[in-house]
Amino acid sequence: MATDSIPVLRVPRHLAIIMDGNGRWAERRRRPRSFGHREGQKAVRATVEFCRRRGIGVLTLFAFSSENWKRPEGEVGALMQLFLHALDREVDELHANGVRIRFIGDLAPFSPELRQRMQRAAERTAGNEALVVNVAVNYGGRWEIVEAARTLAAAAARGELDPATLDEAGFADATCLAGQPPVDLFIRTGGERRISNFLLWHVAYAELYFTDTLWPDVDAEVLGAALADYASRERRYGLTSAQVRAAG
Ligand code: FPP
Repeated sequence: MATDSIPVLRVPRHLAIIMDGNGRWAERRRRPRSFGHREGQKAVRATVEFCRRRGIGVLTLFAFSSENWKRPEGEVGALMQLFLHALDREVDELHANGVRIRFIGDLAPFSPELRQRMQRAAERTAGNEALVVNVAVNYGGRWEIVEAARTLAAAAARGELDPATLDEAGFADATCLAGQPPVDLFIRTGGERRISNFLLWHVAYAELYFTDTLWPDVDAEVLGAALADYASRERRYGLTSAQVRAAG
């Protein structure tokens, strides 16, 4: 990468979060896990507001992984209800605040009602520019890469794409986050230090930040600490420190 193309941004353009710890948060209070997910929704609201105030352009949240279907039926059902209610309750305010909502993942297994509400929310907010919120549902990073490969292979088979000309930018354009900046900062709450098949393509150069804070306890202070840590890091993209300083 040429030194003049190194982003020297101190605020991430794209923040991605694995919101982990809802279940443990509830269990510590001897409450059902679904109570933790409900409290987690409040942290989602606070995070969206935080990103708007800090001028972060894109927020991508892991709300439901392809593996989450294996959870007890009652917990999956409670999460589906929560998503339905959240779509009902939150979209007006998000729209009023200029937030664009998108859903990434394989939406096919969700109920027609939920799919329709997701689609409506996405269509209604499509023209908003203050902040893009990508909600990953039934999402897996390997699934996304295979889907992109499938799309490109089909285009090649139709004679619309010459495989020899395919480059990284062309591949990125076939992913769920086409046209969006790569992830600058990746946060995982809840103490685990794993990427768990989230945004594999997009985190290639992301700074990783792990916190033991359980998701429902996340607030502007916790997010502010993550941003301060990010701002203090030197992103070298394979260059030397001297080259990065010269470019900055
Ligand atoms: C992980 O915690 C969290 C989830 C699987 C669900 C995330 C959902 C929300 C935060 C609710 C609202 C979201 C939106 C976008 C409306 P966990 O259950 O794995 O916690 P544990 O590791 O303590 O068991």
